[in-house]
Amino acid sequence: MPAKIRVDLRSDTVSKPTPEMRKAMYDAEVGDDVYGDDPTTNRLQEKAAEMLGKEAGLFVTSGTQSNLVAVLAQATRGDEIIVGDKCHIFNSEAGGTSVLGSIVMYPIKTQPDGTFDTEDINGAIKPRDYHKPTTVLLCLENTHNLTGGRAVTPSATKKMADAGRKKGLRVHLDGARLFNASAALECPVTELTKSVDTVGFCLSKSLCCPIGSVLCGDKDFIGEAKRWRKMLGGGMRQVGIVAAAGIVALDTMVDRLADDHANAKKLAGGLVEIKGIKLDASIVQTNIVRFGVPKGSGGKIAALLKEEGVQINGGDSDLRMVTYHGVSSADIEFTLRSMRKVMSIVNKSAA
Ligand SMILES: Cc1ncc(COP(=O)(O)O)c(C=O)c1O
Repeated sequence: MPAKIRVDLRSDTVSKPTPEMRKAMYDAEVGDDVYGDDPTTNRLQEKAAEMLGKEAGLFVTSGTQSNLVAVLAQATRGDEIIVGDKCHIFNSEAGGTSVLGSIVMYPIKTQPDGTFDTEDINGAIKPRDYHKPTTVLLCLENTHNLTGGRAVTPSATKKMADAGRKKGLRVHLDGARLFNASAALECPVTELTKSVDTVGFCLSKSLCCPIGSVLCGDKDFIGEAKRWRKMLGGGMRQVGIVAAAGIVALDTMVDRLADDHANAKKLAGGLVEIKGIKLDASIVQTNIVRFGVPKGSGGKIAALLKEEGVQINGGDSDLRMVTYHGVSSADIEFTLRSMRKVMSIVNKSAA
C-alpha cells in the first residue's frame, strides 16, 4: 500500500483555501464579470492595484495567463522580449508568447541572486534595423523561483528597469510570489513595483487561494490586457466566487508569510547538516529551498522520501522543497528526520 503523505513540499500551489476563504466564497456577491458586473471581482482588482501602487488590476486564471496577457498586450508579432535564461516565462510556460504571439524570447544570463547585469540587458537590446526583431519589453521575476526563491531588492529592480527604460523598453515583473519578496526584504510591496510598468502576482501559491492571479498596470494597459484575456478564453462570468478568496488572502495571508520563510530556513539549516546534500543555507530567503544531491540520485531520494510520507519535486541532481500555510514547524522536523534516514540509505548504496 502506498505510504500516507504527511508533508507535501512539492510546491506552495498545493496549499488549500482557509475556512475564512471558503465562507467568503460561499457568501460572495456575484455578477457577470465579462460585463464588468461582478462586484467582488471589481473589489479584488481595485484592492490589488492599490496595494501594488498601480492604476488598475485584472483578475486572470493563473500566473501563466498573467505573464502571457502581459506580454501579448505589450509586444506584437515580430517583436522581441528580453527574459532570463532561468525565468519561468522562458522555461515553464510552454513557449506561449512565441506560439501564440509570434514574439521572440531573447534569454540573458540570470545571476545567482535572480538579477541581470545591466551590461547583459544593454547587450540584448537590438538597434532599429530591419534585419532584427524589435526589442520592446524586459521581463523580471521576483521572487526568483529557479535560483531558490531569491528576493530581488528594490534597488536591483530599479537598476534593471532603468537600463531597459533608457532604451525605450517597457518592463514587466512576474511577481508570482511578490508578497514573499516584500516579506523577506521587509519592504513595502510598492517599493518592488514602482519601477516596473506591469506586474502580476499569484493568489494560488503562498497566499493559499484555490485559483487565480492579478495583473496590474495603468488603465490603458489593463484595457488592452482585458481584450487579450478574452481572446485566450480567460473571460470568466460569476468569478466573484473565486475572487472572494483573493480578498481574504490579501487581508489575512500576507502578514504571515514570514512564518513560511522561518520554516524554510529551519529546513535549510537541517538539510546542510546531512551528508550528501549540497546547499548554501544562507541564500534561503523565502519559502523555496533548492539543494543539490549526488548526480543521478534525485529520483531515488524523492521516491524513498515519499515512502516515508514526504512528497517533493526535483530532478536528477537537484531537489526542491517549498513551505506554505499548512506546513508546520513539526512537519519540518518530520521532513528532516525522514531525509536523514533516506540519505543514509543513498549514501550507503553509493559507498
Ligand atoms: C515565478 C513563477 N511565475 C509564474 C508561474 C506560473 O503560475 P501558474 O502555475 O499559476 O500558471 C509560476 C508557477 O510556479 C512561477 O513560479
